[in-house]
Amino acid sequence: METGDSIVEIGATVPTGFEYLIKEECKEKLENEAQCRRGKVYFPIKFEDLHKVITLRGVDNVFIVAKEIVKDERLLDEKEAAIKFLVNFTEGFNWLPALNAWQSFTGTNFDLTLPDPNNSSEQRNLPSFRVTCTRSGQRHKFGSPDGACHIGGKINDMYHWPVKMKNSDLDIMVDITDDSVIFGIALTRASLHRRNITHFGPTTLRPTVAYGMLRLANPKPGEVVCDPMCGGGSVTIEGACSWASNYFVAADINKVGTERAVGNLTDMAASRKIEQGKGALMNDVLRWDVCKLPLKTNSVDVFISDMPFGKRMGSKYRNWQLYEQGLREMARVCRPTTGRAVLLTQDKKCMQKTLYQFTTMWRKKTQLFINMGGMSACVYLLQRCKDKLNHEDSSENTPMEESGDVADDNMEESGDGADDNMEESGDGAADDEGFK
Ligand SMILES: C[S@@+](CC[C@H](N)C(=O)[O-])C[C@H]1O[C@@H](n2cnc3c(N)ncnc32)[C@H](O)[C@@H]1O
Repeated sequence: METGDSIVEIGATVPTGFEYLIKEECKEKLENEAQCRRGKVYFPIKFEDLHKVITLRGVDNVFIVAKEIVKDERLLDEKEAAIKFLVNFTEGFNWLPALNAWQSFTGTNFDLTLPDPNNSSEQRNLPSFRVTCTRSGQRHKFGSPDGACHIGGKINDMYHWPVKMKNSDLDIMVDITDDSVIFGIALTRASLHRRNITHFGPTTLRPTVAYGMLRLANPKPGEVVCDPMCGGGSVTIEGACSWASNYFVAADINKVGTERAVGNLTDMAASRKIEQGKGALMNDVLRWDVCKLPLKTNSVDVFISDMPFGKRMGSKYRNWQLYEQGLREMARVCRPTTGRAVLLTQDKKCMQKTLYQFTTMWRKKTQLFINMGGMSACVYLLQRCKDKLNHEDSSENTPMEESGDVADDNMEESGDGADDNMEESGDGAADDEGFK
């Protein structure tokens, strides 16, 4: 970004694997062409439109690109030389346009000019700051903390801003990939993916991943969208926020899960009312077993679900039965030809084998590999085939509450949904700050 530009270059982190879906979102909402890189999208935006970046639902963190170094071998030099190159570079470009854009976005009023060397006693309103450095690539001879420390030292020398590691005003990001670097200034203090969830569980899905799944499903106005294994409800809440002309229904076998979903929905409705003057979301939460859906045949347009991976939730062994029965039952309820399912799982082997058995019910249209806090997971977009399925053997079922005897007993027997089971798995504390 150069002085006098009215265009600001923005970078945003996105769930790895969903870059192209978010590129589409940028095009739709901001009318620009984003460039995709692994886990990030970059796009230009007019200075006056900067506030619109927070309307993006598929991005986690947003930052202004202050400067970029592309393909410079000096980054791969010996430690001292590479750090010296970075430090000199930090001093050598004009930070002011990016700083001004940041100030305008945040509505702050700091003095962001370089200090006057002839007037050291001057009282100035300076921001506190910190530098974070991320690095990918094997060939660097220095570590990320070295980079952050030396670049931070140089910025402190230049601007005299005080360093503050927690709750700093300015968050400078240095993102190094092989022989390229981006210097950025964060626009979002907390990741935007946190916006929907107040009640966290051990497998809470990031709303930004949920958003990507919904985009892949592409709900048309009026379609009924169902998450039959909803947990805390990330998918259904994100769906109801972003696709207001659809009806969303979500359910889980586990009472703790549905209570969490209701808690999240209630808090979301309250904050919508206060912040946006909007009403409750078009959303219902029920309790059921996905293998016996209490729904009419051909009554749902889209199923979207984050299935138990068999790690923090359920077990790989039990998945064989759950995936088979669940996919069969979803096929019964899903409208032939137009119906779709978007299913996320890490248990790819089980999913592939199950789909292989069900080629007359489900046609695999796309599969996207995504990174879920270090785990490689896969999102499948399935189209409901028009072929008949054995409706004869799938009678329509009764909801758990009504049948009375299935609910809790059933959970204990299957073990799948019970919360005790989650704790037993031993890794209940989700990495990545509570998100799966
Ligand atoms: C990976 S978690 C979903 C997490 C959810 N996306 C969230 O954001 O909290 C899978 C969910 O499937 C539910 N589940 C397992 N077996 C089920 C079944 N037979 N019927 C319905 N839900 C089931 C579990 O209780 C769990 O909440």
